[in-house]
Amino acid sequence: MTKAVLGIIGGSGIYDLPGLENVREEAIRSPWGEPSAPVRHGTIAGLPIVFLPRHGKGHALSPSDINYRANIDALKRAGVTDLISLSACGSFKEELPPGTFVLVDQFVDRTHKRESSFFGRGCVAHVSMAHPVSPRLPVHLAAAAEAEGIAFAQGGTYVCMEGPQFSSYAESMTYKNLGYSVIGMTNMPEAKLAREAEICYATVAMVTDFDCWHPGHDAVTVQDIIKVLTQNADRAKGLVGRLARDFPREHEPCPIGSDRALDTAVITAPEA
Ligand code: ADE
Repeated sequence: MTKAVLGIIGGSGIYDLPGLENVREEAIRSPWGEPSAPVRHGTIAGLPIVFLPRHGKGHALSPSDINYRANIDALKRAGVTDLISLSACGSFKEELPPGTFVLVDQFVDRTHKRESSFFGRGCVAHVSMAHPVSPRLPVHLAAAAEAEGIAFAQGGTYVCMEGPQFSSYAESMTYKNLGYSVIGMTNMPEAKLAREAEICYATVAMVTDFDCWHPGHDAVTVQDIIKVLTQNADRAKGLVGRLARDFPREHEPCPIGSDRALDTAVITAPEA
């Protein structure tokens, strides 16, 4: 049996985890470079938690400048078995208004400036990303959201854009017409790297705005986003507290094999 260690990546507006006890900060060195910040080890209701603020201290890192490989590597070295990404996003659907937490189950990667694999020259591996979210995690997240009285939606597609600019109207309409649910700038390549690191991964996409497609809303501004972001962040912290309280203490083997993804992925011969 493997003990569960819950990793939390805090996105915009989430730079700490109140309620984290026995906190110990560790600057983990990674061969992949500099993680966004030292990780914070602690416990909530006795469950080991490792917290990492994705954008670093004072939100100094833009989505393109985050070292996603170093972040996932640091969390792996810290022992994380299950990882929840808390992420602000825009919405393409009337029924997902600002304040909704979307437990997405699919991602579309439209980024183009980021290192998105631990593998390459010398060791080639192709993990499956057919189902990027480990299905047990949204079950626990839904139960926690329900218990906390948080409006949430189960399932949805998150399109990850490069940014840092927001989408044009044409892009926004295109994504909407393609049926995507939400848009953000950070969950790719994070989800891919988590899979390569054999860490179970799920996202709570917290809607802050309707992007710019919505006839009743003007262009997205950071000012508007921040208003909702602060409320979302408070509720996200409640969600994590509840999730930790009820989370299984033994790591649950992933039904789709996220936690053993490399068993079937490496193509390079051992002697190569
Ligand atoms: N993060 C929050 N709102 C967003 C939007 N509309 N587009 C991209 N990233 C976002």
